Order: sequence, then C-alpha cells, then structure tokens
Amino acid sequence: PGRTTVRDVRAAKERGQKWAMLTAYDVTTAGIFDEAGIPVLLVGDSAANTVYGYETTVPITVDELIPLVRAVVRGAPNAMVVADLPFGSYQASPEQALATAARFLKEGGAQAVKLEGGARVLPQVETLVAAGIPVIGHLGLTPQSVHAFGGYRVQGRDQAGEVLLADARSLQEAGAFAVVLEVVPADLAARVTKELVISTVGIGAGADCDAQVLVWQDMAGLTGGPAPRFVKRFADLRTALAEAATAYSDEVSRGVYPTVEHSY
Ligand code: KIV
Ligand code: NA
Repeated sequence: PGRTTVRDVRAAKERGQKWAMLTAYDVTTAGIFDEAGIPVLLVGDSAANTVYGYETTVPITVDELIPLVRAVVRGAPNAMVVADLPFGSYQASPEQALATAARFLKEGGAQAVKLEGGARVLPQVETLVAAGIPVIGHLGLTPQSVHAFGGYRVQGRDQAGEVLLADARSLQEAGAFAVVLEVVPADLAARVTKELVISTVGIGAGADCDAQVLVWQDMAGLTGGPAPRFVKRFADLRTALAEAATAYSDEVSRGVYPTVEHSY
C-alpha cells in the first residue's frame, strides 16, 4: 500500500523488472490507469497538445499544468505522480527550478518532477535533489527544444550519441532517479540502460530500456491522424468514442433515447 516510490523504481531495475509509465491529465483516466496498475503517471507538458490544443509544448505554463496535476493526484491513490516542468520555468537558474518544482509539490501534490536537458540543467537537478525532490531527466528528442532542432527528428545519432551518454551519466551523478530517452537509436538507449544504475524510460528508444512511456491518447488510439512509428495503439478509442457519440445523437434525434427506464 501507499504510492510507488523512488525505492520501488530502484528495486525494479535491480530485479530486471520492466514497467510502464503513462501520461495522465485528469481524474477519470488517472483512476483507470491507477487501477490498471500503472506505477508511475506523468502529467506531461504534452498536455499542451492533448489538453490545450497548442501546436508544441513551448507555450504551456505552470498555472495551466498545476490543476491537471492536482486532478491526477486525486484520481490515482497508488501511482507516483510526476509533474513536467514546462519550458521557461526552470532553465534560468537553480533557484527558479526549485521555486517551480516546489509549486508542483505543494500546490499540485506531485511526488516528483521531470525536466528536459543534460549538461545545461545539472545545477537545477542538483538543487532539486538537495531539496528532497525526486527528479527524472529527459534526453534525446526533447520537445521543448523543437525550434532549436528544426523539427521532430531522431536525436543521438553518431557523435551526438556520445554526448547523450555523457549527459545521462551526469544526470545520474547529479542525483536524478530516472531518465526519459525520447526517439533515440535503440542501440544507444541499450548502452545507456546498461551503463546507468538509474532507470531509463524509453519512448521511441527501443526494447532495452528499463521502462517505457507513452502519451495515453496515443496508446489508446484516441489521437487522430498518422502516429509516429514508436506508437502502438493498444485500443481504438477514437472509433469507439465517435461511434458512441453518433449513436447517442442519433437516438436523441429519433426519440429513441431516453425511454421510460431512464425517466423519473
Ligand atoms: O510530456 C510528455 O508527455 C513527456 C513524455 C512523452 C515523456 O514528456
Ligand atoms: Na514532456
């Protein structure tokens, strides 16, 4: 009983036990994923796309994310809830990072935070860890840097792979308890996973990571349009939900619903 902790995550790596992380942004889905036994839920800044309809994760603010974190914490009594630090809320200084992370713990009720970057955010990671805040790093295709990358493309190829490995080592050294590896070559992610004692959480990073993470709407087939190749749709919720809405609308317009059994 009690929530998943950093000790559980460490123990899983020691046992070689792989596990799945999902994003969550609201109380209903958080409750479903918690009941399904997902041990770690991420209130990702991907809420920029999935909740708020922005084109990138760059615009979302701390004030937009905190209410979602609160909802997920309320809905999921067993999972560790990780809050993403949005773009611009931690890069300026370790002090800024601590002030932001403290808001996610105090106002949001999160148990951990995640931030993007390697060498450039080590002082931030050290400060958060020193304050007693569990931190997840995030390397590879870090979407907050989309404008610097010039689009969403595979990161860590060739020489950049050595830089990523060094960044992963320094995040571990700085005290992070896990690191997300996003859209990087599988053999690089395997190397990082083998070298680190902290857990790697892959998304488009092959089969050898200690854990995997997906945006839940991608996982459940709710997202429309073509998906990146790393996405597997484990359900077709978009079709199911559209059919339900159509059937409901149809029955209302034909006077089939509600009937006497739905009435008082
Ligand atoms: O914001 C997010 O959903 C993420 C995961 C996909 C890793 O950062
Ligand atoms: Na994110």
